[in-house]
Parts: sequence; structure tokens; C-alpha cells
Amino acid sequence: MNILVVGGGGREYAIIKKLSGSPRAGKLYAAPGNGGIAAMAECVPLKATNLDGICAWAEENKPDLVVVAPDDPLAAGLVDRLEEIGITAFGPHANAAIVESSKAFSKGFMEKYGIPTASCRVFDDAEKAKQYVLEKGAPIVIKADGLALGKGVTVAATIEQALDAVESMMKAKAFGSSGERVVIEECLFGPEVSVLAFTDGENVLPMVSAQDHKRAFDGDEGPNTGGMGAFSPSRYYTPEIAKICMERIFLPTVKGLKAEGRTFKGVIYFGLMLTADGPKVIEYNARFGDPETQCVLPRLESDLLEIFLACIKGGLDKIDIRWSDKACACVVLASGGYPTSYKSGYEIFGIDEAEAEGAVVCHAGTKLADGKYLTAGGRVLGVTAMGDDLKDAVANAYSAAKHISFENMHFRTDIGVK
Ligand code: AMP
Ligand code: GLY
Repeated sequence: MNILVVGGGGREYAIIKKLSGSPRAGKLYAAPGNGGIAAMAECVPLKATNLDGICAWAEENKPDLVVVAPDDPLAAGLVDRLEEIGITAFGPHANAAIVESSKAFSKGFMEKYGIPTASCRVFDDAEKAKQYVLEKGAPIVIKADGLALGKGVTVAATIEQALDAVESMMKAKAFGSSGERVVIEECLFGPEVSVLAFTDGENVLPMVSAQDHKRAFDGDEGPNTGGMGAFSPSRYYTPEIAKICMERIFLPTVKGLKAEGRTFKGVIYFGLMLTADGPKVIEYNARFGDPETQCVLPRLESDLLEIFLACIKGGLDKIDIRWSDKACACVVLASGGYPTSYKSGYEIFGIDEAEAEGAVVCHAGTKLADGKYLTAGGRVLGVTAMGDDLKDAVANAYSAAKHISFENMHFRTDIGVK
């Protein structure tokens, strides 16, 4: 099967690497891909958000499958449009991807179906939002309604921070139209776990658990980023908690979406907080997480392509999914200044040496020029390594990362430590 993967970050690198090992995979393409993906797939110079371009390319090249990985094209309906022209696509339709693209929708949905989450109110009016903050007090959580590259959330420790967040989202439009509506939520406490799950709209097949590190600096300091590293599994996600999550969260979500006429096929991401009152949903994503995917897929021992096809055609309950007992850790090497402002175009050294230690270096923001890899984004590489346990995996990832260097390189030194 010839397959186009839409996207060009570390997550897409990990997906393509796994697909390339599938016995049924033929020629692989990526749009737009990146410098490292080019070694495994032919890169088509189309942005993931260029729906017209991708549909035109698919009509001409007739891939057997298109895998849509990022949030924007899913929310904009790329899967719907590909199906309209007779192309098989992996990922939810736009009407189901709304679980990620509108927090107001997902909060209302969870309330309707009794799925545990933080209590909240939705506001279109900044003054009313501020009034509510004053009534509720701090700590309190302010979220932009729409997509904001994972950065549209402020966990405010003080009332001043909360009021500033409302002001910058609703008045200064820090996230453009995504922040015209805000969700103000009760602040939850407890360990955070990400669980990604395959679903065919009916059955749910959870992947092994993972944990992300969203803040830019050690000790969870600094601004929120797309993710500075991840590891799998989370020691907090016990089989007992997994059972509760399946019964109270995963199945009710998938069955509820079907009942709403929004059948979800693809990967649904449950961002969970394990509170003293049990697991609660912090957010849904309508796709594989980044960088969670980089530390989850290496543990998958079954054929990813077969699973994708079962999500599309149904029958996920007949898939026997196998996972390695080993742990996996991913350390993101970023451009200094990310997520605010940074420069690109620096040569990257030491990738081969890192891989010689057994690590997989997932390219995220790289490009290939004259046979050299150059930095081309905020998150540049994800150095990923397996180990007998989490400590071992983390040590292996950092040991491999030591070989890599580029101008202004920044990474967290505490991935998987807490
Ligand atoms: P989100 O983009 O919704 O995943 O939020 C980003 C981060 O903000 C999460 O990973 C949590 O650490 C934090 N967060 C979001 N919602 C809450 C909440 N209700 N209570 C406490 N922390 C939260
Ligand atoms: N790592 C969080 C996300 O992909 O949204």
C-alpha cells in the first residue's frame, strides 16, 4: 500500500518509522515531512494546512491510504474531503475532531454524558469572564476555546494572573480568534497522564500510558510549549485506574460521540488528571500527541498499518495488540528561545553517534541542505531510547543526546525524573 502521511514533526517521524516496518507498506510519502523523514519517505512540498493542494496531489497520485496526523487539517475537514474524492483516510471527520478544536464543545459533551472533568463556565464577554474570576478566586484555569498550538491555557495561581490571561486572550487577541471565547475552569490537582487510544467509532483500544512535559524549563518552570519530552509508561497509571478510565471515560466518550452523530475513528487522546476523586479529563485531542507518540509507538509490537485499517473499516475488537514491557523516554532538543522566538538554519552534529548507541533520533524541525541537517523549527529533534525501566530509558536517552549539538540548543535535564 502506498501511504501519504500529512504532517512534518517528530510525531510524524515516529509514525512513518513504524509504518515503514509494516509488511504491507509500499511507497511512503509525507506532506511536508522534514529533513529526517526524507530518508524514509518522499517529501511532498505541501503544508499540512494546504487542503486543496493535498487533495489535488491525492487525486493525481492515488495513494491507498492518507494518514492525517496534525490537529489543524483534521479540524478543517481533510479526512472528509479525501473521502469525497474516493481516497481512504485515517483520522476523525471534522465533526468528531471538534472534541479538540472546541473546548466549549468538549466541556458541554462531557457534562451531557457524565464524563468526569473539571467544572467550568464558558464566556464570550471579557467583563463577565473577569467578574467570574473575582467570584471564584484563585487558583483557577483560563483556556482559549479554539486551537492554540497547546499554548492557550493559563493555570493562574493568583487572581491577577487570571485577569491578565482573560485580558490577553479576549482583548489583546494573543491567540487570534481562538481566544474570543474562553473557558474558565476549576483547578484540579494530581498526577497527569496521557492515554492515546485507537478507535473504530465503537471499540476502544488504549495504547500504553505516557507523560508529557509541557513547560520549557526544568522543574516545570517557564512558558508552556508543545512538549519538551515524554516517557512511557506512567507509574501512576495502574491496571486498576486503567479499568476505571475505560468504564467511566474512554467508552462513554466514544459511545457518546457516536450517539451525537459524530462517530470518531482514528486516535483519540485523553489528557487525564488522576485526582483524589478519581481520574478526570483535562482535554481531548483528536490525534496522536507530540511528543507522546515518539515514546509510545516504539513500544508497539503489532502492525500499525493493520490497526489503522481496522480503525477505518471497523473490527478493532479483533486486533490483538501487543506492547513491549520496556520503558521508553524521549528528550526534545529545541532551539534556544522556543516557544517564544528563536533562530533556525544551524547545522546539527552528532545524530549518527546518538543512533549508534541504540537511540532513535526523531526529526521534528530539521531540513536537509547539501547533505547536512539544519535546524528548521522550535522543537528540532526528539532523542528516544528504550530501557528495562523508566530510569534506564531516561539514562539511555540522555546518554545518546550528549552526542548531539547545534547553536543555541536547549533541552530539559529532568525528563522522567519527577
Ligand atoms: P491543556 O492544553 O488543556 O492540556 O492544558 C495544558 C496544561 O494545563 C495541562 O497539561 C495541565 O497541566 C494544565 N491544566 C489544564 N486544565 C487544568 C485544570 N482544570 N486544573 C489544573 N491544571 C490544568
Ligand atoms: N503533547 C500534547 C499534545 O500533543 O497536545
